Amino acid sequence: MDTRNEVKVQEEYIAKLRKLNEGKNLKYNILTMGCQLNENDSEKLCGMLEEIGYSKTDNVKETDIALFNTCCVRENAEDKLFGKLGELKRLKEEKGLIIAIGGCMMQEKHITDKIKESYPFVDIIFGTHTLYKFPEDLYRAIEEKRKIEDVIDVDGEIYEGLPIKRDSKIKASVTIMNGCNNFCTYCIVPYVRGRERSRSPKDIIEEVKSLAKEGYKEITLLGQNVNSYLRVEKEKNIPIEEYEGVNSFATLLRAINKIDGIERIRFVSPHPKDFTDDVIDAIAGCKKVCKLIHLPLQSGNTKVLKEMNRKYSKEQYLNLVDKMKKKIPNLTLSTDIIVGFPGETDEEFEDTLDVVRKVKFEQVYMFIYSRRVGTPGDKMPNQILEEIKHKRFDRLKELVESQIEENNQKYVETVQKVLVEGESKNNPNMLTGRTDSNKVVIFEGDKKLIGEMVSLKIVSEHMWYLKGEVNE
Ligand code: SAH
Ligand code: SF4
Ligand code: F3S
Repeated sequence: MDTRNEVKVQEEYIAKLRKLNEGKNLKYNILTMGCQLNENDSEKLCGMLEEIGYSKTDNVKETDIALFNTCCVRENAEDKLFGKLGELKRLKEEKGLIIAIGGCMMQEKHITDKIKESYPFVDIIFGTHTLYKFPEDLYRAIEEKRKIEDVIDVDGEIYEGLPIKRDSKIKASVTIMNGCNNFCTYCIVPYVRGRERSRSPKDIIEEVKSLAKEGYKEITLLGQNVNSYLRVEKEKNIPIEEYEGVNSFATLLRAINKIDGIERIRFVSPHPKDFTDDVIDAIAGCKKVCKLIHLPLQSGNTKVLKEMNRKYSKEQYLNLVDKMKKKIPNLTLSTDIIVGFPGETDEEFEDTLDVVRKVKFEQVYMFIYSRRVGTPGDKMPNQILEEIKHKRFDRLKELVESQIEENNQKYVETVQKVLVEGESKNNPNMLTGRTDSNKVVIFEGDKKLIGEMVSLKIVSEHMWYLKGEVNE
């Protein structure tokens, strides 16, 4: 299907709405939950709204549109959305603003049913596959004064050429693939994001080149499983039009590494089972690819990993880490871990702690297992008591924090290359930036350094940031 025509149709709706809103000085407010893919989607929603003539406000009391881009990977996101909707009810009655909810949670029928029943004042509900149609949905809601529900359950397409309003002028995210085919048994993502599909090499390379021209220094490539980029297309014999030699994730890294102006390349998330040697070699061989690699572990126990459908064992994960450490100088690793997956015993949890002790991650994103309707994990009989999950979480957190403290010490007195991102939020007299390993560094310096790569000598460490001095 050629989706470019469908995007053109949306451009017409954008033009119609722009006319409708002329001179009204309208505002929008957006709340984004979830992962970087959702943040990138929100940048596209913001792009559409800005083209329509809305400007962004952080104050929900003065907004004409309240937009939510939701996540459903864990339960707490639901509580957050319903809490916010409750707060908006009065504002809706007083001001008649438009309330629109999109994103992953809207792909779940029990959630949209609940919204329609308990929050009937919501104007627009749209899903992950219809995000590109937001201008049309908004137009209908305004012109036809009716409630819009635009959620479809399909494998999904790629829509190129949507407007975009990026959050930063220094770092940019580029989604390289949508969907997921892995069906880890705890995870809702494959059900709400559809099947895996890759953007064409040309579209990605051209986007990165134009970002470089605009002055962006850091690119983060996004996908649920980035190192299987173009795999599905190869499996299904869908012809891939190579562009600048790109026909795999490894060759994509190499091609982006050559683009002038881009200084750093990051990517999330790769899957350990797809971490082939060509990708390891590309990371090692590409100067701009940051040597902090996010390698989601989920559990350190082989039996739990099997139940999770992760397709690697404890030993395979540790062997992969060893191989990467050997081949990639200055490698650091971050990871995701779930505690309290159904059936996880105390001994099995010890394996997770064991892997954490061995690998010494730079950063660990820790999650308490959350039952997701429709996933195999939710139907497993041996769910773990909340109390036990929390105890395990606390033990893991303690271990991780002690490792981070120890690891931070290693930075003191070293010189680090830092990409300066802006003024520090807590202290506008200081600047903030990040190391290759994604550590925040705060330092005193001229504002002209914002957007530049500087050498900083690390003078002290604190739990979540380092302090540096310009190294002359
Ligand atoms: N595609 C990525 C991550 C997707 S979701 C990957 O495979 O790594 C981000 C993280 O949320 C996951 O890595 C996992 O650690 C966590 N997560 C997903 N489903 C969860 C659930 N039901 N309960 C708790 N954590 C979950
Ligand atoms: Fe979820 Fe697994 Fe897909 Fe990641 S790889 S999005 S954890 S199903
Ligand atoms: Fe959440 Fe959807 Fe991302 S469920 S983690 S926002 S893909």
